[in-house]
Amino acid sequence: MAGRNFGMAVMMMGSALILSGGMAFAEDEAPLPPVPAEYADKHMPAGGWTDPKAIEEGEQIYKGDVNPNVNCGSCHGKDGTPVKKGARDMRDPKNICRWSDSFWFWRISEGIAKTKMKGFKNSLTEEQIWHVMAFENMFSNGGKPHDHSCYKP
Ligand code: HEC
Repeated sequence: MAGRNFGMAVMMMGSALILSGGMAFAEDEAPLPPVPAEYADKHMPAGGWTDPKAIEEGEQIYKGDVNPNVNCGSCHGKDGTPVKKGARDMRDPKNICRWSDSFWFWRISEGIAKTKMKGFKNSLTEEQIWHVMAFENMFSNGGKPHDHSCYKP
């Protein structure tokens, strides 16, 4: 009897492990939604990821100094540590390096339905979106610019 119970317990622990493993996998590896056709050709201007002037402007936008209605830091945190529940951790290269420039540009432009992430295409110019991306990109690299070549299509 005791042997049988033990066997059951092992089996249940095994299935719990498989289930949680599967869930972790689903969370890490869930494919990103495809970039809509109208955004597929949007690409970071040459040198834009590391251009000091672009990054400086991006920082001001991010912090809400350019337009008080655009304050990325109010949710994503001053240093990329999310302050609003559910906002992506911008310090994690697993997030930053998963996004193509087109994907990233699209998400900032249109936002994400049913989340606090609203689109900014009416409050930011395309150039400003590239700048804020260049700034955001640094969070995953200890606050230093990098060319985002960690992204592999
Ligand atoms: C009101 C809060 C809020 C503000 C302001 C905000 N975000 Fe977000 N953002 C979120 C949340 C929440 C998510 C995660 C949405 C989800 O569940 O996928 C997110 C996701 C993102 C993502 C990840 C996209 C993805 O598909 O995973 C990027 C990039 C991003 N935000 C950039 C920005 C930038 C740049 C700004 C400022 C121009 C900004 N956000 C302003 C709340 C905000």
